[in-house]
Amino acid sequence: MAADLITMDDLTNEEIEALLNDAEKLLPVAKGEVYLPLLEGKLLGNMFFEPSTRTRMSFETAMKRLGGNVVNLGALASSSVTKGETLFDTMKMVDGYCDVAVLRHPRQGAAQYAADACEIPIMNGGDGAGYHPTQTMLDLFTIRQAHGRLDLNVVMVGDLRYGRTVHSLSHALSRFGANLTFIAPASLSMPEEIIEDLQKSGANITVSEDLLSNLPNADVIYMTRIQKERFADEDEYLKVAGIYKLSRSNLKDVKESMIIMHPLPRIDEIHPNVDNTPHARYFDQAFNGVVARMALLCRVFGVSVPKEVGK
Ligand code: NCD
Repeated sequence: MAADLITMDDLTNEEIEALLNDAEKLLPVAKGEVYLPLLEGKLLGNMFFEPSTRTRMSFETAMKRLGGNVVNLGALASSSVTKGETLFDTMKMVDGYCDVAVLRHPRQGAAQYAADACEIPIMNGGDGAGYHPTQTMLDLFTIRQAHGRLDLNVVMVGDLRYGRTVHSLSHALSRFGANLTFIAPASLSMPEEIIEDLQKSGANITVSEDLLSNLPNADVIYMTRIQKERFADEDEYLKVAGIYKLSRSNLKDVKESMIIMHPLPRIDEIHPNVDNTPHARYFDQAFNGVVARMALLCRVFGVSVPKEVGK
């Protein structure tokens, strides 16, 4: 079905720009200043087979602020997943109950699998170490909000191997002409097949293991958490845990307009003393999840966002 969102390849650049414009218009609705029940009578299934705070809550907030409703899979321990129900069977149920579903699952490819099984549109809320396209929409929104454009120097830092946010974001940004710098320890570098894909589409990519020397030229620093849950071996995780940390004292030579982003949760990648600098954007970024997902939900239902919301 056309409205599935599994990877960023499911959206053209024109569609992405239209969604970002819709998201912008919806800011007063996300803030609760205007009630705009565009999705009244619609029901979203929140199917989270892995922990989530922001993705799950911002989808729920987006749906409810637009007058729609949400049912949640809830804690896995209280669902039939513990009885051995397959993903296929669980998704078949949601297909009947809901009008759209968001799926987060530990297995890469699970969202496509669910989309093939379901009639209703499926949005990928993160499939293992695969992709996270709805996060990319809020990331693009945040970058555009700060800089007014996307063809910038963007530095992605941390777990680029298992981090699904950076997989989707690098694809999207390369399509809009950004220069990408990937900073990771060798064991967590960006997967070769993704780099090849990006290069085929003409992306300008630099690979490095050093964060500090890459700060002065950056317009965006995108920090990520080392994805502990994806390591087969705790010792392997401990070798790289805490490898990149950003603190206020590192920010002396950065551009005034540089922004620091993080999909969150952070562990120790960004010291809290960065939070009050003008560079920190990660909490705004998390808020932007509501408008980005509102715009995506409107698209799924073919509902157009009025030109002037609240007037
Ligand atoms: C990310 C995820 O789940 O991939 N979180 C999110 O959706 N904001 C990043 C992470 O867990 O590190």
